[in-house]
Amino acid sequence: MPVPLLDLRAQYATIHDEVVGAMMRVVEDQAFILGPPVAQLEEAVAALSGTRFAIGCASGTDALLLALKALDIGPGDEVVTTPFTFFATAGTIHNVGARPVFADVDPDNFNMLPQAAAAAVTPATKAVMPVDLFGQMAPLDAISAAIPDLPMIEDAAQSIGATRDMGGRTVRAGEAATIGTFSFFPSKNLGGYGDGGMMVTQDETLATRLRRLRVHGGLKTYIHDEVGFNSRLDSLQAAVLLAKLPHLEKWSAARRRNADYYDQAFADLAEVRTPVIDPQNVSIYNQYTLRVRRRDELQAHLKAQGIGNSVYYPLPLHLQPCFAYLGYREGDFPESERAAREVISLPVYPELTDAQLDDVVNAVKEFYGD
Ligand SMILES: Cc1ncc(COP(=O)(O)O)c(C=O)c1O
Repeated sequence: MPVPLLDLRAQYATIHDEVVGAMMRVVEDQAFILGPPVAQLEEAVAALSGTRFAIGCASGTDALLLALKALDIGPGDEVVTTPFTFFATAGTIHNVGARPVFADVDPDNFNMLPQAAAAAVTPATKAVMPVDLFGQMAPLDAISAAIPDLPMIEDAAQSIGATRDMGGRTVRAGEAATIGTFSFFPSKNLGGYGDGGMMVTQDETLATRLRRLRVHGGLKTYIHDEVGFNSRLDSLQAAVLLAKLPHLEKWSAARRRNADYYDQAFADLAEVRTPVIDPQNVSIYNQYTLRVRRRDELQAHLKAQGIGNSVYYPLPLHLQPCFAYLGYREGDFPESERAAREVISLPVYPELTDAQLDDVVNAVKEFYGD
């Protein structure tokens, strides 16, 4: 039986009435831009992430862009980040006119290595931008300890609801950074029916600045204190997200259950390494990512069997053609490059049935000759 990598229709079937009702209320209300559901969602996401403020915007990419702008990062500045992430992380640094400076990742969990980040800091560094990859938080505590004086933008696009134990305290994704950012891209654990994003912060001055930046830099109509952007969250998206939010914890728990099932099923395969979750972390498994030998052959085998899969990410950012000007070469970030050769993500979405899980397991085991 074919198993897709993600099945949004299966989720929609379970929440149809709530979501359609919420959308229709917006349609009846006709307040499409920054209407009441946006403020309600901001309040809910602030509570979820343990922050004082949350500001909705048009996408996870824009959330990063506005965060960089709010910290006055621009030409001549450097931002330290990871090369093993979705393109937007470094793309936004470039787009504010600053320079992405990469630091290699931990081979266990693919998140930024604190020592590597500290080594990448120069007098031009204005911020550090760790990514909470695949659903588990980066070691923000260790990164802050290694680089104590720099603002931190936490790219939590893939990790809303993830937590990390920091010295005995449970800290949520977005909570500990100067600005944390989320994406509501449909494939995320909390996904809208289109693009959407959010920024969270504990800092009131930054919150006001972010609110201003998303509406062309002016909070008073037709008065612009600075040049900002048109980056607003639609009321329709906010309504969908608000309807989905009460289910988020249950969905993330179901992803963890599916991950456990795979972990056990693959435990004795010599050529497969199951995901390593840092003992301080609780992952929300936005992706279930194996590290394997003969990755490309496995991928072809899964495809032939109808088992959805994807490689996040096949080419690290320091080797992307558009970043050739940065002067990096192959071999500069060996762990990111090795990860790009060895990773493969399998279906882990909450609605997977036992039969589907078994189909995925059997296809992988068949390939590795079990
Ligand atoms: C790590 C990371 N950063 C940024 C983004 C950008 O989010 P969006 O697609 O909502 O612009 C994504 C999502 O695709 C992501 O995975």
